[in-house]
Amino acid sequence: MRYIGITLFLMAFSSLAVFADEPDIIFIMPFDNAIVNTESTMVMYDTEPGFIPKIEHMGFELPAPLIVGGNENDLHHLTLKLKEGKNTLIWTNPATEKRLGEMTIYYVPSYSMKRVPRSKGKEFKFHSRDMEARCNLCHSIPQEMETVRDNPMSPVGKVCSACHSDIDTAAKPHEPAGTYDCFSCHQPSYDPARFALVNSQMALCATCHSQTTDSLLGQKFVHGPVASGECLICHDPHGGKRKNLLRSSTLDMCMRCHFDTVPQEVKNSLHGDLECDDCHQPHGGGNPNFLIEEGANLCLSECHDLPDEELGGHPIPGHPRQAAVDPSKPGRQMWCLSCHKIHGEEDISQLDIFNDTEIQRTFCMRCHY
Ligand code: HEC
Ligand code: HEC
Ligand code: HEC
Ligand code: HEC
Ligand code: HEC
Ligand code: HEC
Ligand code: HEC
Ligand code: HEC
Ligand code: HEC
Repeated sequence: MRYIGITLFLMAFSSLAVFADEPDIIFIMPFDNAIVNTESTMVMYDTEPGFIPKIEHMGFELPAPLIVGGNENDLHHLTLKLKEGKNTLIWTNPATEKRLGEMTIYYVPSYSMKRVPRSKGKEFKFHSRDMEARCNLCHSIPQEMETVRDNPMSPVGKVCSACHSDIDTAAKPHEPAGTYDCFSCHQPSYDPARFALVNSQMALCATCHSQTTDSLLGQKFVHGPVASGECLICHDPHGGKRKNLLRSSTLDMCMRCHFDTVPQEVKNSLHGDLECDDCHQPHGGGNPNFLIEEGANLCLSECHDLPDEELGGHPIPGHPRQAAVDPSKPGRQMWCLSCHKIHGEEDISQLDIFNDTEIQRTFCMRCHY
């Protein structure tokens, strides 16, 4: 306690010397260069009674924080939606335009591909005894929470939603989160870290979904992130707006990792309004590339089930759409993708093939040389 007293004294002294008449911004949490994994984060600070600073986040001015009056200083509660990666916040005095403080916060969600080098940032964990004690001057975060485990709907379970309201207000909650069974996944003691996960990702899911995890790992072709147990890349453990606890549209989820296979313009091209999981199984499956059906059946079964005559022959009357050998790729069968591109690149069917002899020559000559 004595150390804290001395530091506070020194801080007050030095800031007096620098900004003689400017109000102080005394940060409580988090700290400069904090790494957080919550999108909605709180920034708390003290300042002179009645003073309302201007706060900019990435160049945009934020609405005024929740201000709680105290005896000496006012306590400001600022709730922020962070952008993935680096966020900068700047406090200024609106009257003098003088900069009073700034803070950098890195938001790295658990499913992010981005990493912050250790030299740049340090992870912020809120639920320590000290930090909770500061809030408990006015709020109540009980120290003992074991009782909730077997009684998930007891009022103590709702303690959490006083501050984490986005979890139990999800439109499609994950059942245990929606019933306040928080401690089936988070452990309540301070040792090793309060509310840390009781198990690592896949093992955590397996405590209740062991049949699913066993069958996922037993597939002939297992998708990379499933094999490495990273279920949280695609699933939000608390649920959210979408069914199956999905974090975002499959297109956005898949493109996080497969931006180089599928061109960015995919949204505007041939198969643009399809979602990735219209053709691929997200966890893997029995077919190569986790396709929902094998070979030409993928294209023919639901979408392009027209007979040759109705397609006007393909591409010319009498031409086979499938054959045992693809002359342009020795060793492989000829099928739809011998001539068509599937992921948004310009496809042969979008070109004026029957009026452009140059296209015809290069295209037909791939096989009829
Ligand atoms: C001096 C008293 C006081 C202290 C200390 C305090 N709070 Fe608050 N807090 C309040 C009041 C008053 C409200 C408004 C309650 C209401 O609107 O019902 C509030 C509201 C909140 C809310 C609701 C969010 C919002 O914007 O409405 C959260 C979350 C919160 N506090 C978190 C914290 C945390 C975390 C700490 C510790 C770092 C803390 N508070 C410390 C008094 C305090
Ligand atoms: C007084 C407000 C408050 C209450 C009540 C509260 N939390 Fe938190 N919690 C926070 C704040 C603030 C953070 C830091 C992240 C942020 O800014 O949202 C946090 C972070 C967390 C984290 C991320 C790890 C960490 O320590 O930063 C977990 C997990 C968590 N809370 C679980 C819970 C659970 C479970 C409960 C109920 C038993 C609970 N919290 C009750 C305010 C609160
Ligand atoms: C099925 C397991 C599970 C249940 C049940 C669960 N959580 Fe979580 N929670 C997680 C996992 C996994 C993470 C880490 C997710 C991440 O890093 O994105 C997490 C992260 C958090 C965080 C910090 C990140 C965030 O999303 O804000 C808070 C706060 C939190 N949980 C609170 C709660 C509360 C409160 C409950 C009960 C209403 C609860 N959790 C129930 C698995 C669970
Ligand atoms: C404490 C038990 C428990 C844990 C741990 C748990 N779940 Fe669940 N989960 C359930 C229950 C209960 C349901 C609802 C019944 C059902 O569909 O099986 C459910 C449903 C689901 C659903 C279907 C949701 C829907 O919209 O239909 C998905 C997806 C899911 N869980 C994924 C996960 C993932 C991923 C994890 C690991 C982060 C996990 N679960 C951990 C209990 C759990
Ligand atoms: C690459 C993204 C991705 C990853 C990684 C992932 N899932 Fe899924 N998961 C999905 C999608 C998308 C669905 C929706 C169903 C569909 O489209 O077939 C789903 C559906 C589910 C369902 C509900 C439907 C069903 O098949 O029973 C469960 C349970 C589930 N996932 C569990 C898991 C578990 C456990 C892990 C980790 C081992 C995991 N998922 C990893 C994308 C993913
Ligand atoms: C976290 C990153 C990540 C996400 C998100 C992701 N994948 Fe993958 N995907 C991988 C990895 C890693 C592999 C294995 C690559 C390898 O073995 O060459 C893979 C392999 C594949 C393959 C097989 C490619 C091959 O060469 O065998 C397909 C198809 C695929 N993913 C489709 C999808 C779809 C569809 C989605 C969205 C539902 C998705 N992926 C989301 C990481 C990801
Ligand atoms: C209309 C069906 C269809 C849709 C929609 C589709 N794919 Fe594919 N994808 C395929 C087929 C067919 C293959 C196999 C290509 C081959 O055999 O040459 C494939 C192969 C892949 C591969 C592995 C081969 C490679 O090119 O590296 C990845 C990764 C992949 N798809 C990702 C995606 C993602 C991500 C999306 C969503 C943006 C998506 N696919 C949408 C049909 C589709
Ligand atoms: C030998 C090359 C070749 C093969 C094999 C082939 N196509 Fe085509 N396909 C074409 C060409 C060239 C066009 C453009 C014809 C045109 O402009 O009229 C086309 C056009 C299409 C069109 C657009 C038709 C329209 O009216 O706009 C569809 C759909 C199609 N093909 C589906 C398939 C499917 C499904 C398969 C596999 C069962 C397949 N194709 C196999 C060459 C091929
Ligand atoms: C991906 C390879 C491929 C491409 C590209 C291709 N073909 Fe073919 N074509 C074949 C195969 C395989 C056959 C059937 C085997 C054979 O007879 O050689 C065939 C057969 C034919 C036949 C004989 C059909 C019959 O009645 O027996 C003609 C004519 C023909 N192709 C014309 C074309 C023209 C014109 C184009 C360009 C618009 C074209 N092909 C593009 C692979 C291809």
